[in-house]
Amino acid sequence: MTGRTIVFIFSILALSACAPTVRAPATLYDQLGGNAGIARLTDAAIDQYAADPRVAPMFDHVDIGRFRRVFAEYICVVSDGPCRYTGASMADAHRGMNLHEGQFNAIVEDLTAAMTSVHVSVPTQNRLIKRLAKVRTDVLYK
Ligand code: HEM
Repeated sequence: MTGRTIVFIFSILALSACAPTVRAPATLYDQLGGNAGIARLTDAAIDQYAADPRVAPMFDHVDIGRFRRVFAEYICVVSDGPCRYTGASMADAHRGMNLHEGQFNAIVEDLTAAMTSVHVSVPTQNRLIKRLAKVRTDVLYK
């Protein structure tokens, strides 16, 4: 190996040692605190729904244990987490409820309050609400 080759190899090694670590940008799932954060958020959302007279009656005959599980899976998938959603499609899940805009807005308000209560930052709240709002036409008037 020539002297120039050795200098070249050392330069590459020195440069790579200084290179900043390249990290993938945080997913929304990470920003929500992963599975543990989403579990806390789901519990807080269920508490908000139960305390909201615009929403609570819809959940009167719902198996809350199952809802808790599939809702958390749904949030996980929507936020690019490593989960599989095993619940019904949004249209099927809300079929027969004939939901209107007022109820949709109530759910969004309750979810926002739930995120605040578990200390999700406002930009992260906005990211999740933006994704969930896309299902509006799938859940309304079914
Ligand atoms: C952003 C809008 C919404 C999203 C993302 C959403 C998400 C979900 C998910 C993931 C489920 C579980 C599906 C399953 O049971 O397999 C579900 C069920 C349910 N949702 Fe929604 N939902 C939304 C809006 C609403 C609204 C506006 C109401 C009523 C005020 C509502 C009431 C219910 C009820 C009562 C169930 C339980 C259905 C059952 O177990 O038979 N949802 N929702």
